[in-house]
This record gives sequence, structure tokens and C-alpha cells, in this order.
Amino acid sequence: MVSIVVGGHYGDEGKGKVVSYLALKDKPKYIARAGVGPNAGHTVWFEGKKYGLRMITCGFVNPQSELLIGAGVLVDIKRLMDEIQMCGVNGRIFVDKRCVVIEQEHKDADVGANSKKIGTTGSGCGPANSARVNRTAKLARDFPELKDYIVDVPQLLNDAIGEGREVLIEASQGFGLSLYYGNYPYVTSKDTSASSAAADVGVGPTRIDDVYVIFKAYMSRVGEDPFVHYLTDEEVKASEVWSSILKKAQEKGIQGTTNQKIASYLGEVGTVTGRPRKIGSFDFELGRYSAMVNGATQICITCLDKLYPEAAGVRDIKKLPKDALAHVKEIEEKVGVKATLLSTGPDVWDVIDLRNGPAKRT
Ligand code: GTP
Ligand code: IMP
Ligand code: MG
Repeated sequence: MVSIVVGGHYGDEGKGKVVSYLALKDKPKYIARAGVGPNAGHTVWFEGKKYGLRMITCGFVNPQSELLIGAGVLVDIKRLMDEIQMCGVNGRIFVDKRCVVIEQEHKDADVGANSKKIGTTGSGCGPANSARVNRTAKLARDFPELKDYIVDVPQLLNDAIGEGREVLIEASQGFGLSLYYGNYPYVTSKDTSASSAAADVGVGPTRIDDVYVIFKAYMSRVGEDPFVHYLTDEEVKASEVWSSILKKAQEKGIQGTTNQKIASYLGEVGTVTGRPRKIGSFDFELGRYSAMVNGATQICITCLDKLYPEAAGVRDIKKLPKDALAHVKEIEEKVGVKATLLSTGPDVWDVIDLRNGPAKRT
């Protein structure tokens, strides 16, 4: 089976967590990182330790899997080397020879006025992708320090697919950040949908079996855009769930606007930039549209425990609190795709897995 994990809203939905779970559970031969580059900040909690990863796939937690970085992904060599060391994955991580390498000039260019207006991550991704389009970028094959890591990712993946092996593709960012479909110009520097993730690693659309679109139980957003889903004081007052979270934030003495208090209480702070995230209620229409463009075969809903504290750590659907289950059902119905993985905590194993074997296209 070949599966893609992709973000359904504005990034930070918990793709890292879902990928690490699938890596351990489905035991892929290869796990390939797709998406933009080191602007991503994926988090995985494994055996009591927290890993913040920007280059290596969170699937590294399975020591049997080989880890790849697809040609579409921008590489920050220093960051990659640091993560290889931190995760102890030398010998089982490989980079496509055609990845564009982010250079200092790209980082320097990513702090200018336009980057500030958009609120980019400052990681050099936009300027490096511009250089790629201008055909002035340098590729991974041009850097001696990457010599031992260079492979042909599409060939490896397609050979494995031909042998019937399991392949997992990890995208980054989210649908609302897509250069094509997001809130332009407050978007990242390329499309973030499942089709692009497949192209990033050189696997054709006919070879993909499953697309998991990941949603958080609510929405969060980093960046400078006018966030149309911004949770207002009125919405908070009208909702039992949000009112109770606000009350707890106030009891802890958290300062700021209502939205900031809730963000801070929920721990919604950008992984890469440390900026506070803006919070919104789940946008069902955006969810439906995103599932449609991504060709979702199943959806995953994360952070249920943050809205429904009694859901924390639940791994059996029969033990999921009624209000959390009702929220899942409403998302399923309005998005129009079955929710198969429900995440109830940051730990890799805090998952309710409702898959009956990997789902097939109907
Ligand atoms: P990007 O590629 O940057 O879009 O990131 P991402 O989708 O991998 O998500 P990221 O790791 O940035 O943010 C998700 C945060 O939620 C992390 O801190 C996770 O540890 C945490 N998380 C994921 N699932 C759950 C969950 O079900 N419950 C709780 N409490 N935390 C979760
Ligand atoms: P860039 O990708 O650094 O150019 O940033 C463009 C926009 O995408 C900004 O609003 C960023 O905050 C946002 N963004 C980029 N990567 C991520 C991510 O991984 N999670 C959340 N937001 C992101
Ligand atoms: Mg993130």
C-alpha cells in the first residue's frame, strides 16, 4: 500500500504524530518526506522524549524503515545533519540528488518586507523555491557533504511499490497554505495538496492507495494573514467547550485577548518561530473542500483531548466521551469522509485506530 499523509487546514494539524504512529503500526519499507522544506515543524513524542523535526520524517521512530527526502523538498544541510545526529539515523536516511539546497542568501532574503508582510517562517524556503523556478538554484548533487546520502528517490520508491512493499509519504504544511488554493498571498511557496506530495517524491497518482487528510479538532494559524476563522469573544461565550477552556486559562492567570488566552492555554505556539498561533473553530466547509482537492480516502482528527479533557489518552472508541464523539461525527458528516484515526494525546500511541485494515478506494 502507498499512503500519503497531508494537512487539511493551516499546518500544525499533527501530521508528525500521525506519521510516527503509522510508521510503527504499518511498518513501511520507505517513509518519504514531501512538502516544502524546513519551514515545517513536525513534533513527535516517543518514549517520553519530544522531537521537533524540520527535515527528517517523523517516521524515524521505526528503526526498520528507510527514510527518504524527495526531490521537491528544499534541504537545509546544517539542519539535516543536526537532525541525523539527534535521531541517530545515519545509514538509513537518503536525499534525492535533485533536491534544491537552501543557501545563506535565501535565508537573508527571507527577512525582507514581503516576508514580514506574509509572516513567513524566515527559513529561506520562498527565496529558494524562487531560485528553483529561475533555474539558478544549486542541487543536492552539487554538494560534497551530501555525497554519502544521494539517491534516486523515485526509483527506490517505485521499485518497492512494484514489489508490493508498504510506502508512506509525509507531506508538510496544510491545505490553507497552498500557493494555489490558500489565502494568497498569505501562503507558502508551493502547492501543499496530496498530488504535489506525490510529485515531490516521484510517485505517480495511479500508484497511491490512501490519502489521509489530517485535521485538528479546531483550527490554528501562524502568520500575518487576516485569519477569517478567528474565534471571537461572542463565539466563545456561545460555546460550552470554549467557555470552559477560557475559564481554565483565566484561572491559570494567562493574559491577553480571549483568543490569545485560549491559544496559550492549549499550548498553541509555532514550532519553528515560537509565535503564538491564532485559534478558530473547525471550519467544515474548508474541511470538505480540502478533503475534495486532496482526494481524501480517510481523515484523522487530532487534539480531541484539548477540547474534551476527558478524552485524554483514550485508545478505545467505547471510552471516548460522548461530546468528543459527537464532534467527530459532525466533522465526518460535513466533510463527507470517514474518520479512521482519532488522536487523544501527544504520545505516539494515544490513538483510536478505526481502520479495518488500510482503506481501499471505492
Ligand atoms: P507542520 O508540518 O509544521 O504543519 O506540523 P505538524 O502537522 O506535524 O504539527 P505540529 O507538530 O507542528 O503541531 C502539532 C502539535 O500538537 C504538536 O505539539 C504535537 O505534539 C501535538 N499533538 C498532536 N496530536 C495531539 C493530540 O491528539 N493531543 C495533544 N494534546 N497534542 C497533540
Ligand atoms: P513560508 O513557508 O516560510 O514562506 O511561510 C509562508 C506562510 O506559511 C506563513 O504564514 C507561515 O507561518 C506559514 N507556514 C509555513 N510553514 C508552516 C508550517 O509548517 N506550519 C504552519 N504554518 C506554516
Ligand atoms: Mg508544525
